[in-house]
Amino acid sequence: PYVVCEPCINCKYTDCVEVCPVDCFYEGPNFLAIHPDECIDCNACVPTCPVEAIYPDDEVPEEWQHYIEWNRYLAEQWKAMGYNITEKKGPLPDAEEWRNRPKSEKDILT
Ligand code: SF4
Ligand code: F3S
Repeated sequence: PYVVCEPCINCKYTDCVEVCPVDCFYEGPNFLAIHPDECIDCNACVPTCPVEAIYPDDEVPEEWQHYIEWNRYLAEQWKAMGYNITEKKGPLPDAEEWRNRPKSEKDILT
């Protein structure tokens, strides 16, 4: 499956959700997660993300390996809450400011 990594945090452009053929993105306050059991590895979402946050699980950069498990955990939580997202909406208000700032998984709001 594909994995949403750190650059998405506090940006959440949501371009990715529109192209997903199986609607497997789940939304939290400042991050999206892909449900690994639903993703069909089509690669459609990768080029749509303005901050290059999405990777196939076998190409996730070393420093972001923990996002593989985070996607599963968060997607399951948010799925249970009914937070499936399939339509693009505006990015978070401070997305441009956050774009090149250091962030970490601790910044993810649930
Ligand atoms: Fe959806 Fe395809 Fe991206 Fe998986 S790789 S999340 S199926 S668009
Ligand atoms: Fe996040 Fe990129 Fe989608 S910033 S919401 S993974 S388009």
